[in-house]
Formats: sequence, C-alpha cells, structure tokens
Amino acid sequence: MQDKVIQERLKCEALKSKVMTAKEAAKFFEDGMLVGCSGFTPAGYPKAVPLEIAKRAENGEKIELSIITGASVGDELDGALSRAGVLKRRYPYQTNKDSRNGINNNEIQYADMHLSHVPQWVQYGYFGKMNIALVEAVAITEDGGIIPSTSIGNSDVFVEQADMVIVEINTSQPLDLIGIHDIYTPKKPPHRKAIPIEKATDKIGTTYIPCDINKIAGIVITDIKDKTRAVAPIDETSSKMAKNLIGFLENEVKEGRLGKNLLPFQSGVGSVANAVLGGLVDSEFEDLLVYSEVLQDSVLDLLDANKVKFASATSLTISPERLDAFYNNFSDYKDKLCLRPQGISNNPEVARRLGVIAMNTAIEVDIFGNVNSTNIMGSRMMNGIGGSGDFARNAYLTIFTTESIAKNGDISSIVPMVSHHDHTEHDVMVIVTEQGVADLRGKSPKERAKLIIENCAHPEYKDMLWDYFNKAMEGKYKHTPHVIGEALSWHDRFLKTGSMKIK
Ligand code: COA
Repeated sequence: MQDKVIQERLKCEALKSKVMTAKEAAKFFEDGMLVGCSGFTPAGYPKAVPLEIAKRAENGEKIELSIITGASVGDELDGALSRAGVLKRRYPYQTNKDSRNGINNNEIQYADMHLSHVPQWVQYGYFGKMNIALVEAVAITEDGGIIPSTSIGNSDVFVEQADMVIVEINTSQPLDLIGIHDIYTPKKPPHRKAIPIEKATDKIGTTYIPCDINKIAGIVITDIKDKTRAVAPIDETSSKMAKNLIGFLENEVKEGRLGKNLLPFQSGVGSVANAVLGGLVDSEFEDLLVYSEVLQDSVLDLLDANKVKFASATSLTISPERLDAFYNNFSDYKDKLCLRPQGISNNPEVARRLGVIAMNTAIEVDIFGNVNSTNIMGSRMMNGIGGSGDFARNAYLTIFTTESIAKNGDISSIVPMVSHHDHTEHDVMVIVTEQGVADLRGKSPKERAKLIIENCAHPEYKDMLWDYFNKAMEGKYKHTPHVIGEALSWHDRFLKTGSMKIK
C-alpha cells in the first residue's frame, strides 16, 4: 500500500529515503521551537505528526511550542496540543474549544492577527526564526515541489523561511486537487512588485510550493481526513438576513452603483456567513465571482446552481456531511476553483483593485457602526478577526451581518458601545440583520445611530436604544454622543443578571 502511495504521490527520487513514521518525524520537534503549519479553517492541516508530538508530552517530556498556521486547524493539531500542554503561543486564528479555553485561561498566549499580515511578519522574523514548517500535501513533484491539499494558508512562506520542512502526504486528499493551486509569494519591500491579478479568475503562479529538497527532513504518509466543521442549517432568521442583503444589492444595481453581475464576493466564516451567501441561490444574480479566503458549502450550492462561475480562496472547507460527495464529484468543480496563498487571497491591494463585496459576521455592532467580531462581552476570545479586517478596510462594499439578538434575546447584538473594537465606523458601510438594513455610507454618527436603531435593532431593544441615544444627545458634545458611564452598562447588566434587559 505504502509503495503504491509513494509511486503515485512522491515523484522525487531523492526524497524517497525521507519517508518515515509520524512518531519518527515528531522527534524533530524540540522544546521552545517556532513551528509554521499548513491549515486554514479546518482544511489542509497536518494531523499525524501533531498527534505524536502530543503523545510525547503526555508521556512526560517537556515540549512547548509556538505555532503559526494559516487560520483555524482541526482537533489533531490545536486540540491535541492544547490538551497536552504543548501549545504555548499561537498565531493568528483558531476555532478549537480547547485552544480557546487555554487562551481565555491564560495558559496560551494568543495574538489574533489580520491574516494578510502573517506572511510578511514571518518573512521579517517578527515571531523569531522559524525552526520547522510542517505542511500537508497531496503530492511532491519530481523537483521536490510541494503540492498542498485543501488549503494553502501561509505554507509557501513557512517552507521558504523554515530551517527544516516536514511534509505529511495525505492520501485522503484526492490527487484531483493537483492543478487548483496558484502559488505566488510577494517579495519583501523594496523589491515587491504589483500583484498581477486583475480578475478573480487570473492565475499568476505555480501549482506547487517550490522547496529546496535538502530542507525536507521527513515525509509521513497518512490518511486522516480533514475534520471540517458542520454548518448550521439555513433557518428563518438567516433567510431573512439573506433576503435583506439581496434586496440591498438589487437596489445598488437599480441605482447604477453595481452591474447586474455585481462584483466578486468575499464571505466570512461560520454558519451565518454560510447561510447569507447561500441565500444568493434564490436571487436573480448570475455569473457571479467569488474572491474570498474560505469557500464553504454555500459556494458549492452557488456553483451547482450556476450562479457562481468561478471561486478563488485559500481554503476549501466543506462540511463533513458533504465532503465525500464533493471529493467524488471534484472534476465538476475543478476548473471553477482556485486556491492561493493567504498573502494573495487576503491581499488589500487585490481586494481594492477587484472591488470586492465583503460580507462578514459581527458578534455585536454599536449604534455608530463599530463592530466587535472577536471578544464576547469584551474579554472572552471567540475565534479571532481572521481575514475580516483584510477585506473590511479594502473592499468596495463592506457589509456586516448579525442576528439582532443572541442567547434567546438576553443579549441585543446592537448595543450603545461595542465591548471590543475590531472594525471601526470608518470601515463599516452596511449593517444587515434579520430586521433590516442600515446603509451607513456618507452618514454622520448621529444619522448612523438613527438608521441602525430603527432598521436593525430587535423590537424588544429598540426603546432602550432610543432612550440611550436621546440621553446621550443631552450631553454637551453631540458629534458622537455618548454617556460614557453608561455606555457599557448593557454588558455589565448581562454579566450580573444574565440579561441586557432592564428588569
Ligand atoms: N454577544 C454575546 N455572544 C454572542 C453574540 C453577542 N452579541 N452574538 C453571537 N454570540 C455568540 C453565539 O451565541 C454563539 O455562542 P455559542 O458558541 O456559545 O453558542 C457564538 O457567539 C457564535 O455565534 P453564531 O451565531 O453561531 O455565529 P457564527 O458561527 O456565524 O460565528 C462569528 C460568528 C462572529 C463568531 C464568526 O463569524 C467569526 O469568528 N468571525 C470573525 C472572523 C471572520 O469574520 N473571518 C472572516 C473572514 S473568513
């Protein structure tokens, strides 16, 4: 079996002697090392070697690592290493329950970063010298080029910068993936050139990550599947959000601000983002393009419905229920998909040039249009900012969606002041909830507040928000009117009584 895999997937003769077990490869990792791993939104991350590293720690060895990935990875990496006490420092994004607990308990130091910043920070050495790049691949070419699997993330830069490279060839990842990658790594300034992408469909690089074969220290063959995350079914609330969003976009076309094929979409992570994008299946829009960082199930639906003609991202994260069917029918999608390094998929220059329509999800929004996407009640890290900021600041149109309430109505997602700032009023153009749409473009803070309260807040919280706003307007300074002492009293009330409502 192993021989067949090597013959099919490891084309470089000189590297055949580097095939080893995951346990052997795990021995390269030493206490204090900085490791760059492939993986983005539980797709294309290394699995077999991290599980063996965790075992070493569980058997009493002291091994603490700093780990940088593309974005979130599966339980075999973040979960296993968090539980074993190996994960001590983590960048730039995660969604794992045990990592999240470690971060919120102060056991793991976490810097939640704009994803487009990561590759150049690695190139500049801000995290320290990268010791090992651990990357998942579908195959290795005759010259040692690494063909990534379901995501690219920062693997190109990790392979370039690390002293040593370990590759997991994963046989659960279909060989059909070969050809969908487009690897292009910008140089450091002042040698950086304009990125020659003028259309979402443009391909500008190689289908593999170039790698000096002398750096490859180990190759592990594994068949552990991506543990992608399930997305919640599209419910009534998300359908309403999608309907509101589509109505808004239709009006943009009517007003002549968008053409009938719109502009390339970027859509964020999670169930809400998946549902809202999925709503476009029922729209009249056609021949759409996606220029995003992650492709979730809804993009498959849009491709199936011939609504989307091409989708570019850095990761393919299809829910567990649909993953096998997706792989079996991959040839139907292959020509319509492209995966790029996140330094390109999330690049501000490209987002601005293409005029992306960025749609991301907020945890909470304040009446002036500031958005919190990361910290529940100001302190509890949920996932991270991910690529939302890369797109929000640089898109043609920046839209945030959120349900108007959370936790069965004990929380209003529209609040007087966000408890943590990720996206400021200067970046946020449109808010969509199931209640309606607030188009904030060209509006002053007070005009924004009126629109957000009237169009987006839940009826149960509207009067409370108007009371706050009117009281704030009694103050001396009326540009961004606030009653500072009360601004976060809503969160305080929830923390003390379990509800933001005044009882
Ligand atoms: N206050 C407190 N908690 C809130 C809340 C609010 N206003 N709004 C939502 N939540 C909680 C939900 O109750 C849920 O909690 P649970 O996990 O305990 O059930 C959790 O936040 C997630 O909310 P959910 O409605 O399931 O949304 P989601 O799966 O669509 O995720 C984000 C929403 C914001 C967490 C997610 O989109 C994210 O991490 N965004 C930041 C990264 C990003 O935007 N990347 C984009 C480029 S890919």
